[in-house]
Amino acid sequence: MAEIFDELNPPQRLLMGPGPVTADPRVLRALAMPLLGQFDPAFTRYMSEVMVLLRQLFQTGNRWAFLVDGTARAGIEAILVSMIAPGDRVLVPIFGRFGHLLAEIARRCGAELTTIEAEWGTVFPPERIVAAIEKSRPKLVALVHGDTSTTMAQPMDGIGAACRRHDAYLYVDATATLGGMDVPVDRWEIDAMSAGLQKCLSGPPGSSPITFNDRVASLVNARKHVEQGIAPAGFVPGNGPVIRSNYFDLAMLMDYWGPERLNHHTEATSMLYAARECARIVLKEGLAECFARHRVVSQALMAGLEAMGLTLYGDISHKMPNVTGVVIPEGVDGEGVRTALLSEFNLEIGTSFGPLRGRIWRIGTMGYNANETNVLFCLSSLEAVLRQQGFRPPADAALAAAQAAFRG
Ligand SMILES: Cc1ncc(COP(=O)(O)O)c(C=O)c1O
Repeated sequence: MAEIFDELNPPQRLLMGPGPVTADPRVLRALAMPLLGQFDPAFTRYMSEVMVLLRQLFQTGNRWAFLVDGTARAGIEAILVSMIAPGDRVLVPIFGRFGHLLAEIARRCGAELTTIEAEWGTVFPPERIVAAIEKSRPKLVALVHGDTSTTMAQPMDGIGAACRRHDAYLYVDATATLGGMDVPVDRWEIDAMSAGLQKCLSGPPGSSPITFNDRVASLVNARKHVEQGIAPAGFVPGNGPVIRSNYFDLAMLMDYWGPERLNHHTEATSMLYAARECARIVLKEGLAECFARHRVVSQALMAGLEAMGLTLYGDISHKMPNVTGVVIPEGVDGEGVRTALLSEFNLEIGTSFGPLRGRIWRIGTMGYNANETNVLFCLSSLEAVLRQQGFRPPADAALAAAQAAFRG
């Protein structure tokens, strides 16, 4: 019982699952900075700076780029609940768990939902999504870019253009890819996008960067209703259906993040500091450099795993560079391996969900974690634990292959 009063002292793990990943120490330092009041000019300046940094991260000229407080699904819900009115036609292409999540949230918003599915471990040929848009004529297409559940990244060619041609909005969930893969919002003609901090942005879970364009802002503002206690004198509500969430109401969030600074929630001060530092670190490295680092690390990890005699999961030509699925070999206790890695090496790798449960491990090389030392440590730890399980990889082949990949 005395333990409850012990100082908080979590073990130092290397988090190489599909997220959260080990946070950059600079982000952890930002979390410890002094709190400021939400209308302190120093704080509102940080809010404005976050908007500038997020625009660069999303590669967009959108006026609206800000944080939704909560984990990545808070950003998803804010966009979907603000954009979808009951009865709106929505198309969700599903190629993993998070496509199912988008469908589930859209359904809760009262959407008239159409889904198409691709087998887990594969992606859609973009033409299949375009054909589904032409057939179902949705108001909104909601699509995951990189689905960590299967490690696949959906090619986006022509999907934004098809949405524009058919007067549909395009929302993309880039939780797992922002900062690790190129996701140029404007070039891909994406109307709204959301992400999270705990993957390629090297921060803790708990803040969701989002962006959306003026088309979305107009749609949402037509549904604008402001809380009675704060509505400015003479405020006239929009005549569209009221947005069914107060916390995730993008119309009110725009008033909070915009020059009106109309009070809504209390912005999560420390998470805003963290998000600012996450974005600053990626942009300081350079987007292209950051994407290239993720690619090189992924190639080296794959080379090492294959040299160990392991099989990579899924259609590798569409694998995200920041997470790799590994088929658990016949006769090996997958959870036993993960437990031994955690207890003996302080290393976390990921398990899987749904149809992949017990079939694959998922190894993340995201953000701060995507480096040579971690790949070599992960390969050697995994090799040692697999040996304990009776699996016999060729000795040291994995390290040699990974090092050769880094040199090459
Ligand atoms: C693609 C994708 N979308 C959404 C989520 C949900 O994020 P969160 O758990 O931060 O709400 C995740 C988390 O793994 C994800 O990978």
